[in-house]
Amino acid sequence: MTDDILILEDLHKVYGEGTPNSVHALRGINLRIKKGEMVAIMGPSGCGKTTMLNICGGLDTPTSGTVKINDIDISTYDDTKMTRFRRDNVGFVFQLFNLFDYMNAQENVMIPLLAQGMRYSEATRKATMILREVGLGDRIYHSPSELSSGQQQRVAVSRALVTHPVIILGDEPTGDLDSVTSEDIMEMFKRINIDNKQTLILVTHSKWIGDQCGRIIRLSDGRVVGE
Ligand SMILES: Nc1ncnc2c1ncn2[C@@H]1O[C@H](COP(=O)(O)OP(=O)(O)OP(=O)(O)O)[C@@H](O)[C@H]1O
Ligand SMILES: [Mg+2]
Repeated sequence: MTDDILILEDLHKVYGEGTPNSVHALRGINLRIKKGEMVAIMGPSGCGKTTMLNICGGLDTPTSGTVKINDIDISTYDDTKMTRFRRDNVGFVFQLFNLFDYMNAQENVMIPLLAQGMRYSEATRKATMILREVGLGDRIYHSPSELSSGQQQRVAVSRALVTHPVIILGDEPTGDLDSVTSEDIMEMFKRINIDNKQTLILVTHSKWIGDQCGRIIRLSDGRVVGE
């Protein structure tokens, strides 16, 4: 056992392999991230950040190489195993929130709990609790379109955190937010990182966010080029 929560070994991703449009997006990524680290992934547009993050969270599979989380090689998982793995271990926060508008804030946060088989009443209680913690106690029955973008992102962050995933992945999680709201969201991330020792990996174009993280990993053209 090591205290590395995530290990990437010689990771390659080729989109559309064998076609004229094929893109070699990741070209041999090697990376180790320790439990409880808060890491920023930075680099120019198109360098492979989202591709790498999606593979780390089991949303996509590598063309070759291995992805180990807690010493388990997930690169060989089939769809069923991967879905279960994601559900129990990973929280995602995207730039565009990805909330369901036909559900209210509370119902959106309950989704991952219900997927884990939690009783409806217990899921309601947990969702309400976390929404109160992020300052949305008076918005739990609002639908996303009735909330500001910062409030929507707090719902999305609550949904990612409510199952206490060991690893939280954010793809430009504050990308569309103003600076004050971005600060609030970063404060939330820092708090759970310190209080719960949860590991965070945040893709960002913002130097300010990078500076809030303990470590910055730089990608360029599908490779790690510096820290
Ligand atoms: N589904 C796909 N099919 C084919 N090529 C893709 C696909 N997704 C990404 N790519 C290509 O892979 C490369 C890496 O894309 P990726 O989305 O990982 O970049 P990124 O670093 O996240 O960029 P950005 O900062 O703009 O979000 C790009 O050249 C992109 O065109
Ligand atoms: Mg991206």
